[in-house]
Amino acid sequence: MTDFRKELAETASKLATPGKGILAADESTGTIGKKFASINVENTEENRRAYRELLFTTEHLENYISGVILYSETAKQSAKCGTKFIELLKKKGIVSGIKVDQGLKVLPGTNDETATMGLDTLDAMAKEYYGLGCRFAKWRAVLKISTTDGCPSEQAIQENAWGLARYGTICQANGLVPIIEPEILIDGPHSIEVSQKVTERVLASVVKALQENNIFWEGCLLKPNMVTPGSTSGVKATASEIAIRTVTALSRTIPPALVGVFFLSGGQSEEEASVNLNAMNRLEGIRRPWFLSFSYGRALQNTAVKTWAGKAENLAAAQAALLVRAKANGEAQLGKYQG
Ligand code: 13P
Repeated sequence: MTDFRKELAETASKLATPGKGILAADESTGTIGKKFASINVENTEENRRAYRELLFTTEHLENYISGVILYSETAKQSAKCGTKFIELLKKKGIVSGIKVDQGLKVLPGTNDETATMGLDTLDAMAKEYYGLGCRFAKWRAVLKISTTDGCPSEQAIQENAWGLARYGTICQANGLVPIIEPEILIDGPHSIEVSQKVTERVLASVVKALQENNIFWEGCLLKPNMVTPGSTSGVKATASEIAIRTVTALSRTIPPALVGVFFLSGGQSEEEASVNLNAMNRLEGIRRPWFLSFSYGRALQNTAVKTWAGKAENLAAAQAALLVRAKANGEAQLGKYQG
């Protein structure tokens, strides 16, 4: 078996370039359909291609973005000029990643909790997309908090932790740096204290499973949620509290050998996602040996997609909107975002 460790470590370090983060543009056809419906754009292959071309051809994107996560369809598409998207991104010095999970299925025996599908075909898929030029991958596991229903259950935590670990080592065996994404949903009325407790519990289980599967930590990235109050709690936490609780949860669970933590935005507003990341990178007094950055989907794209609205004449304005958020988050990675 090829030993990809040197390449994995190099890819992970390149993604963790100071002042940069990851653009998550890997919405499945169904998910991007919802985005398009909100702006009255038909969910056709050409519209999906045109929108992704808009994102990837944004001038100076590479100043703030080190990697882009692609959906399988996008990874095989080209810009109007005929250049494959992966090639176009490579020319800008941006690493392409690939979403390799096949979505969620209800986990029988739980209260509608889920497991992530796709392990059976993962080895072949990883080989194929490495061949196409991808160098990292994403697999999203989802857990929910419901204190009245006992969620997340130990069953769901174990299933998802083990699935993430199996995915992680299969990717590494094929030269792809795995982004380990155990997303604990923001939905619900729970407090920020509960969010922190659950985050620590889930991360500890994920780390144990990764260790038991012999993950190569130096070629591995984490994509967690930030610790926030539940979205229907009626409570707004300050950026400082979110930063303290999130970094505390990480410092109690994540090995220093892991190269980088790239947060998901998970329904935060664009501005909140930038301000909270900035607060973490300015935090003093809590040890944080990892590179802390962003791997945002909605918090990078929301204004851009609305500005585009499917019209060619809005292209430049939409690209400008994307660049505003990319720059803000790049500065937040350095702890220099002014808001
Ligand atoms: P959000 O930043 O919109 O949460 O998406 C990131 C992502 O890739 C979720 O899997």
